[in-house]
Amino acid sequence: MSTLSARPLRVRKAAVIGAGVMGAQIAGWLASLGIPCELLDLAVEGPDRSRLAREGVRRLGQMRPPALATASAAQRIRPGNVDDDLGRLRDVDLVIEAIVEDLGAKQALWARVEPYVAPHAVVASNTSGLSVAEQVAGRSEGFRRRFMGLHFFNPPRYLPLVEVIATADTDPERVEQVVEWLRRFLGKRPVLAKDTPNFIGNRVGIFALQVAFRAMQEWGLSVEEVDLVTGPVMGRPKSATFRTLDLVGLDTYLHVLRTGRSRTDDPDERALLQPPPVVEAMVRRGLLGEKAGAGFYRRSGKGDGRAI
Ligand code: NAI
Repeated sequence: MSTLSARPLRVRKAAVIGAGVMGAQIAGWLASLGIPCELLDLAVEGPDRSRLAREGVRRLGQMRPPALATASAAQRIRPGNVDDDLGRLRDVDLVIEAIVEDLGAKQALWARVEPYVAPHAVVASNTSGLSVAEQVAGRSEGFRRRFMGLHFFNPPRYLPLVEVIATADTDPERVEQVVEWLRRFLGKRPVLAKDTPNFIGNRVGIFALQVAFRAMQEWGLSVEEVDLVTGPVMGRPKSATFRTLDLVGLDTYLHVLRTGRSRTDDPDERALLQPPPVVEAMVRRGLLGEKAGAGFYRRSGKGDGRAI
């Protein structure tokens, strides 16, 4: 691919669908770079039907490290909901989806979104590892040609890696334009990945996390001990095992494990990717990590963490 000569995508306005951990932060980073952004989440009952998206914007102002370059960047984000506001997608150049990691939910969303998106717009999924092609298998050829995976890593303002996943139907020219836009305007280091389960980063990353769980059980280590040896002493103070899981969200972690397991027949790999029962139990109890205020660490009012 000759990315050197490619013209970057022109993004005068963007839309992000899903205002959770990733969607709100992606919108925050685009807004910080001067791009007006629609941010849509599910509609809720009551006077403020866009409350979920509004809360996503509010959380941005509290994040450490800051998700917004300036507080005023939040004004470039317009909260909305997918029941009332899909018409706002008509004049955007790029749509990025960041809803729950569930293939059926994403397929249903694309069926609803397709009629509203302008013919020139690029449409992308921030999926952690679901099939990009399967998400739009029922959509028109025109839609499939401008559809791709755009997998930002958390936190998206700070981590340079973005996996770009084209399907057999994606227009290669669109891919080149997006890669150049990521490089030149977002300062990212895009990597082309194949449309295989969990792509590259998560396919590799979940093994390290799962091995840490095994070691914890075998050697009777505490959460803090595992984080000490997998974090600061390895020069990674912020990316220790359980801090990473809290940041990602334990429900999302389970989805990624299940995607990995569903696509391999290798018994060793399947055994290693077995969801840890403690994580399943925590998700059932709503201990999803930072987004829920508690996971392996509990967030105090001051935002510091203490293992629970
Ligand atoms: P999250 O659970 O924090 O947020 C998901 C948001 O989507 C929620 O606000 C929810 O109300 C909303 N939503 C659900 N269904 C919707 C629909 N049909 N229409 C509109 N909004 C809907 O999830 P998170 O962590 O932000 O993940 C979003 C996507 O990004 C997933 O595909 C995930 O695998 C991926 N991802 C997550 C990363 C992480 O570190 N958490 C990193 C990279 C990718």
